[in-house]
Amino acid sequence: MTAKQKLLIVNQFHPETVARLDSLYDTVHFWETPDAEKTKLLDSLNGICNAAASASWFCDDRIYQLPSLKVLACFGVGVDAINFKETNAKRIKVTNTPDVLNDAVADLAIALILATARNMINADSFVRNQQWLKGPFPFGQSLAGKTLGIIGLGRIGEAIVERALPFKLKIAYHNRSPKKVPYAYYASINELAANCDFLLNMLPGGAGTAKIINADVFRNLGPNGIFINVGRGTSVDEPALIEALVTGLIAGAGLDVYANEPNVPAGLIKQSNVVLMPHLGSATVQTRREMGNVVMRNLEAWFSNMPLLTEVNQI
Ligand code: NAP
Ligand code: 8YV
Repeated sequence: MTAKQKLLIVNQFHPETVARLDSLYDTVHFWETPDAEKTKLLDSLNGICNAAASASWFCDDRIYQLPSLKVLACFGVGVDAINFKETNAKRIKVTNTPDVLNDAVADLAIALILATARNMINADSFVRNQQWLKGPFPFGQSLAGKTLGIIGLGRIGEAIVERALPFKLKIAYHNRSPKKVPYAYYASINELAANCDFLLNMLPGGAGTAKIINADVFRNLGPNGIFINVGRGTSVDEPALIEALVTGLIAGAGLDVYANEPNVPAGLIKQSNVVLMPHLGSATVQTRREMGNVVMRNLEAWFSNMPLLTEVNQI
């Protein structure tokens, strides 16, 4: 019987996948090692461990101290927690889990559009609190004929479009450059905001998108506009969003992601014109399992000297 390959698991990212990795590999649980012993552990792994698995949205920079580390298989598509300066310098290959989560995240985006347009969360409270007995609930907004503006029309954005078209929404978008798609392209986020009713952020996180959605964008979206964020909270100037919601600069928002998760600013929690989700985009049993499968397949490829399935182009 051949010895199991050594695998460093950085954090407890998805218990089911971690359990599968534990059964296939000779795993070391980095997060369970006391802080004072982490350097010693990495020293002991040098030369006998070249692979690690981690969440894509949080990691532990100390793992880059393992000189023999050559591949980091991440669970999640947005790799903003990975230190590409380190992985580039040390020639560590990074993989993520694209595509398998497109449907689940797109479903949640549509749910947020509907929930905000029809004021569904407040309507639920209205029934439970017996307010219906005193009179009808205020009217919401129709989707048909309105424009959905997507900032970051990529894999998930395309899955959102597939769902939005049957609701008779028109599509507009902003990327750094136009794509070959039949939707209105705007070269700036401000122009897109000024020309849509629902402005949906699907951008990745990281320095390139930090606070790119700011007070000017909300001013352009206007008092009937609704902001949806399923991309990353770091792309938004959160105090400016709160101000826009409080002052009626925009009509409402539907948020799945925040700048400093799981901390959600009190200013958002107080507002009744915002629907708040705890980063649920890919959170279905099936999708998380599929994401785990991609992590497993990348590691299997690595240990079989085959090409990685979903290597991230490092920048
Ligand atoms: P993707 O296919 O790479 O799409 C991202 C799009 O954003 C690309 O089309 C890109 O187009 C555009 N873009 C990137 N940087 C930009 C910038 N500075 N300005 C304007 N456009 C920019 O990625 P995806 O798979 O759709 O995922 C997108 C993001 O969603 C992930 O990175 C992650 O942060 C987030 N996400 C959230 C959840 C959740 O649970 N809420 C789940 C999965 C993913 P150009 O290169 O042409 O600009
Ligand atoms: C996370 C995500 O992986 O893939 C991403 O980029 O944001 C999500 O799918 C998920 O939130 C893990 O908790």
